[in-house]
Amino acid sequence: MLEQLKELHTQALDELEKIDDPRDLELWRVQYLGKKSRLTQTLRSLAALPLEERRSVGVRANEIKRALQSGLTEKEKILAEARLVLLEREKLDVTLPGRLAPTGRFHVITQALEEICDVFRGMGFQIVEGPDVEWDYYNFEALNIPQYHPARDMFATLWIDSEMDKKARLLRTHTSPMQIRVMEKVRPPIMVVVPGRCYRYEATDATHESMFYQVEGLAVDENITLADLKGTLFEFCRRLFGEQRKVRFRCDYFPFVEPGVEVAIDCLACSRGGCRLCGYTGWIEILGAGMVHPDVLKKIDIDPEVHCGFAFGLGVERVPMLRYGIEDIRLFYSNELRFLKQF
Ligand code: PHE
Repeated sequence: MLEQLKELHTQALDELEKIDDPRDLELWRVQYLGKKSRLTQTLRSLAALPLEERRSVGVRANEIKRALQSGLTEKEKILAEARLVLLEREKLDVTLPGRLAPTGRFHVITQALEEICDVFRGMGFQIVEGPDVEWDYYNFEALNIPQYHPARDMFATLWIDSEMDKKARLLRTHTSPMQIRVMEKVRPPIMVVVPGRCYRYEATDATHESMFYQVEGLAVDENITLADLKGTLFEFCRRLFGEQRKVRFRCDYFPFVEPGVEVAIDCLACSRGGCRLCGYTGWIEILGAGMVHPDVLKKIDIDPEVHCGFAFGLGVERVPMLRYGIEDIRLFYSNELRFLKQF
């Protein structure tokens, strides 16, 4: 009997040693200390034993019971502590800021293009687009800039074919070739704006990129005058840059318009006091424009005695540069996400 109790004792302690889960511990308790456990049974049936044996077995069984009970309490404490450590490690700080899922956005230039086109759409212009790879004819020839004309120097060109070739292809240096493509296709009245990429063979610096965007505008009808051009661009400048904007028109030269003008707005930063943004002139040039040259109209069989029109070209990058005080045009196209994410 004592032998059996001893075996029970070591077995119970061995098993207890290995337990690391409260549920197993409960099973263990039931098995070794529960009502139906061998130990309890033994203690209950002591009365049936002969006197001599009753004493020694009783003492031993009670010793084992106490040992198992204290083992149980000890184990409970260890498991509880382990659980606390685990909880501590898994603790969730619900006040931490969440991890935001990255969301996409439109490029700041795309946003500017949309906004510019929206203003013109609101005035009744239609949006059309043309090819980046253009024929010499559309980019120069038809716009009154024949081969060897000095005005070609205004546009440092990226040629695809030999410059000498009359049918040479190039990367368009401005969106003006679309004036010709549109007038070839549709008869007046015409009111279109053309957003698009342009390319120039130029060293890049803070204000020059070899690829940039323009928005071209063209309106052709009977009785269109310089006043229409002024009114349109005046309104455009104010819608884009604010109601208080002053708009300045001055003579300029482009071979495909006559007269040609350059359009400037009063500096947003210094309101004409003079600052770095406007090069201390108080004015910022944002558009080239003019009345479509009669020779250009004649080339595509539009009679300049009947129809006339105006055209303009706008540098798109200038808009966010002015608005946000961005001083380097190259930032737009260097894929610098820390810059782009701001818009
Ligand atoms: N295409 C000209 C440029 O890129 C701008 C312009 C467009 C001027 C239309 C007059 C009329 O400089």
